[in-house]
Amino acid sequence: MSHAKPIPHDSGLLHVTGGARYIDDVALPANTLHLAFGLSAVAHGEIAAMDLSDVRAAPGVVAVWTADDLPFANDVSPSIHDEPLLATGTVHYVGQQIFLVIAESHLAARKAARMGKIEYRELPAHLTVDEAMTADSRFEGGPVVWTKGDAAKAIADAPRVIEGRFEMGGQEHFYLEGQAALALPAEGGVVVQSSTQHPTEIQHKVAEAIGLPMHAVRVECRRMGGGFGGKESQGNALAVSCALVARLLGRPAKMRYDRDDDMTITGKRHDFRIEYRAGVTEEGRILGIEFRQLARCGWSQDLSLPVADRAMLHADNAYHLEHVRIESHRLKTNTQSATAYRGFGGPQGMLGIERAIDHIAYVLGKDALELRKLNFYAEATERVAPAPEPGHESLPDDPTVDLASRGSEAMIRSDAKMPKADGFQTTPYHMPVEDFILNGLVAKLEETSEFARRRAAISAWNKDNPILKKGIALTPVKFGISFTLTHLNQAGALVHVYSDGSIHLNHGGTEMGQGLFRKVSQVAAASFGVDVSDVAITATDTGKVPNTSATAASSGSDLNGMAVKAACDTIRARMAEYLAHEHQTEPAKVRFEDGKVIVGGDEMSFAEAAARCYMGRVSLSSTGFYATPKVNWDRKAGRGRPFYYFAYGAAVSEVVIDTLTGENRILRTDILHDCGASLNPAIDIGQIEGGFVQGAGWLTTEELIWDGKGRLMTHAPSTYKIPACSDRPRIFNVTLWDGQNREETIYRSKAVGEPPFMLGISVFSALANACAACGAYYPDLQAPATAEAVLAAVKRARGIGR
Ligand code: MTE
Ligand code: MOS
Repeated sequence: MSHAKPIPHDSGLLHVTGGARYIDDVALPANTLHLAFGLSAVAHGEIAAMDLSDVRAAPGVVAVWTADDLPFANDVSPSIHDEPLLATGTVHYVGQQIFLVIAESHLAARKAARMGKIEYRELPAHLTVDEAMTADSRFEGGPVVWTKGDAAKAIADAPRVIEGRFEMGGQEHFYLEGQAALALPAEGGVVVQSSTQHPTEIQHKVAEAIGLPMHAVRVECRRMGGGFGGKESQGNALAVSCALVARLLGRPAKMRYDRDDDMTITGKRHDFRIEYRAGVTEEGRILGIEFRQLARCGWSQDLSLPVADRAMLHADNAYHLEHVRIESHRLKTNTQSATAYRGFGGPQGMLGIERAIDHIAYVLGKDALELRKLNFYAEATERVAPAPEPGHESLPDDPTVDLASRGSEAMIRSDAKMPKADGFQTTPYHMPVEDFILNGLVAKLEETSEFARRRAAISAWNKDNPILKKGIALTPVKFGISFTLTHLNQAGALVHVYSDGSIHLNHGGTEMGQGLFRKVSQVAAASFGVDVSDVAITATDTGKVPNTSATAASSGSDLNGMAVKAACDTIRARMAEYLAHEHQTEPAKVRFEDGKVIVGGDEMSFAEAAARCYMGRVSLSSTGFYATPKVNWDRKAGRGRPFYYFAYGAAVSEVVIDTLTGENRILRTDILHDCGASLNPAIDIGQIEGGFVQGAGWLTTEELIWDGKGRLMTHAPSTYKIPACSDRPRIFNVTLWDGQNREETIYRSKAVGEPPFMLGISVFSALANACAACGAYYPDLQAPATAEAVLAAVKRARGIGR
């Protein structure tokens, strides 16, 4: 079955040979103009005076525009129209766009952009969560609060109460290809190429900015050199600028940010402060828990509300919380507008409870893993329902395979773990957890990673080694799959079969390196029973599939795979009907396999079948559409089913720290991750490795620092350190959990893009474990665990400075 094969990424060879084309590789028409923004130098202020005469006079400059020159909407916000393309009177962060330089070359535009003379009347800036809280500077009016049970009472009645406060930093996306766009004037509109996860959003914002209907704007994206959430909304400003120039000046226009500008201008992961207060039993069972999440959202709303929602939705991670209260503050600050980033708030929410559990274990003198297991949701016990379409699609031989039986001998049983009367325990947002597999999965991982033996060996090793200390931790992930804005859970596809049997495939998803196009081409190939090489992978194009959602929330293959399958199935059914009629047999007896079509004892190549259908005047083109079933919830109340299903995984990481310098290394990581019935195990393992390393980077070396004036000091690779090859675990074992999705997803697979990111938490937890081995006090390690932070935690553990 071609859809489950571990075949390479379709562009793998092109990626490593430099043959893959990005926006910057497109051959430009000779009269192309190049753009750059003039940026705000202050964090908050009114523009008192602006002298752009030097900019206008600079070599190669064709025009310079301010907000006053924009003929239609001056807005690039993906949410509430609070983000002007060019500032209107007031600036809100260092790096905000004030004017647009249009020049004959990229360099000329960039040089001229620095020559603006702007005087500001500075206003007080809120840079930190504390400053924003004091000023009550926030989005959404007030805090959002969700409750289940009575946390305050459960905590008051609990034998032990543990509370703490944890700061976690943000994260720069550091996609290798920076933000870029190119627009060409076209009859009656524009054609835009954009490095974007969301072509429809680009189309929408461009249409508003040039004052034309969406049909006048066509947006194309062949691939991005990484997006990671940073190209859901952050590409709007470039694409809109290019389109405006193409439309108003009638010349092609290109814009790409230099790396420093990219880091200075665009939004990043939200940094969070999470305060927790837990009431627990002496054994460490959580009886009641309260979280207060403070998210630093930056100057505009962007996607911050759903990000903060997702942080709340993952405050439980893998743990059944009977009495829980989650309070979320969405704080408006004079910094870059924080945006989507792999996990979309989930990592922050999840780290909150993982941190609390480590703290509780420390205080009670218990093993953190035992506490984790004690608090897990109950394992799903029912059987997987038969899949939708038994037949030639690769369903497992026994569709009633019992997932719960895997590793169940290691299940930890206790009264509190017994499912409730309706059969399932519920999340803090009252959704039954019907597919929990972490009891079995973690038991298996403990076994394969030899967790118990190594934990004992490490504590013995630490006794003998005064300078270097080791730590180990196993942390789980339960991540909700679906857009929490429910209407976004839809997708479309367009499939053509040509008369020579070759297949042209289009869908609403975008390719950013995650392998979506490969997976979706496997779905199409499986549907027609042909080889993937017969399926052409083409650029995402708003002219082919309309009204798409961003490729985000890890749902690219779930949504587009189903839409493509629907389109292919429609064509296949038409072909089967025609060929069956020709051969005087039943359509159900026509089989498409191994590049052949078998019909009533006759056999022909797929190409021949396509040619015959063409001669028989059968339509060989179809759209396909999919909308995720079952999702429905009330985000204000925090109740319902925001997710179609959960993806699971767990990681064991072992680290070593140098107590003299705080330097640290990941010695070994073992991962067991659930991709359901994987669509492509090679690509899925790549996603798991990459996600894990990126998650570990977030919590270790990647540190964003702003100075007291709100200037981002870490705006280049010289000062901002993403993991290098040498930072990956020395030993790195990644295994896929052998299972299938309980829900009827595409071939019973599970989304994989974001969940493994949170496996990086195991590294942070292991580092905290190593710090705790240094002394008798709680080290209270904060994130990111840079060498400095580790050193400070070692000192705290030793009671230095207390
Ligand atoms: N993998 C690569 N190589 N590059 C990326 O930009 N983005 C991640 C993830 N994996 C990303 C990636 C993010 S944030 C998401 S939401 C998913 O891929 C999106 O793609 P999918 O829905 O097809 O998994
Ligand atoms: Mo991913 S953060 O949902 O683009």
